Amino acid sequence: MTTMLSVSHLSKIYEGGFTALKDINLDIRRGEIFALLGPNGAGKTTLISIICGLVNASAGKVTVGGHDIVDDYRAARSLIGLVPQELTTDAFETVFSAVSFSRGLFGKAPDPAYIEKVLRSLSLWDKRNNKIMTLSGGMKRRLLIAKALSHEPRMLFLDEPTAGVDVELRRDMWNLVRGLREDGVTILLTTHYIEEAEEMADRIGVIRKGEIILVENKATLMHQLGKKQLTVHLQTPLDAVPESLAAYALERGEDGHALTYTYDTEREHPGITDLLADLNAAGIGFKDVNTTQSSLEDIFVSLVKK
Ligand SMILES: Nc1ncnc2c1ncn2[C@@H]1O[C@H](COP(=O)(O)OP(=O)(O)OP(=O)(O)O)[C@@H](O)[C@H]1O
Ligand SMILES: [Mg+2]
Repeated sequence: MTTMLSVSHLSKIYEGGFTALKDINLDIRRGEIFALLGPNGAGKTTLISIICGLVNASAGKVTVGGHDIVDDYRAARSLIGLVPQELTTDAFETVFSAVSFSRGLFGKAPDPAYIEKVLRSLSLWDKRNNKIMTLSGGMKRRLLIAKALSHEPRMLFLDEPTAGVDVELRRDMWNLVRGLREDGVTILLTTHYIEEAEEMADRIGVIRKGEIILVENKATLMHQLGKKQLTVHLQTPLDAVPESLAAYALERGEDGHALTYTYDTEREHPGITDLLADLNAAGIGFKDVNTTQSSLEDIFVSLVKK
């Protein structure tokens, strides 16, 4: 596994003294989809803007494909495509020429067949001769993606690609991004939508107030999240869990007044009705039961609020 993007000890203090990024360390693996989650103002756009050469870092080092973004910026930038958060439009250009022009900016030879492929994949081919100002908001967003892909980048940054995009288009974009990953493109996307991170990402990072506070495989997170707990409140406290219930690996709580069973909703497990029947069989009476399940959203909210 090789590293596509390496960010080390990166800090950003904006003019006026505001610290937007504090000692960020992050490695993105070649070919992965990494979702960066964080509330407004956390520093997501600042981080992406530094990597893409739009904003200068105050300290630290970034390499893309092994190329330093300062010392070797041409090589670094030719590997990068950026879909910015803000819609910017050259209103009077046509879709096709805007995307072709973007390719030219990177010094790549014209390749109409490739541009056609990109526009078709984004359902913009029918609009290729339209002036940009005649496109809808969602089409403009797709055009930004087309422009970012115009020079065949190896790493794509998507800064809130689906903000203000309808459900259907969001699904299309997810499919497009997955297709890019299949072509070996490394992807870093920022989002406010936890669902989007769940759907798309191989790994998830959370940034808060300029600091990365969590980086984890999605599968690991989802595994933790796939667990539910059933707590049984007992009529009379138990000193120990009877042998007959060993299979459930129950935990005693509340000084023996409660038993908690943790089970994985994604896997086969002894059913909770079995547990309740076995409790009856063991002569253990209970007053109440309740279940709890944490979601990615719970984890995110508690991390961000801390
Ligand atoms: N040019 C600037 N000068 C001063 N402060 C800035 C500048 N650009 C951004 N900031 C500040 O840096 C912080 C991080 O901003 P940034 O745009 O990176 O956040 P973000 O995580 O992308 O937020 P959002 O989810 O709203 O897009 C914010 O407090 C913002 O006000
Ligand atoms: Mg932003």
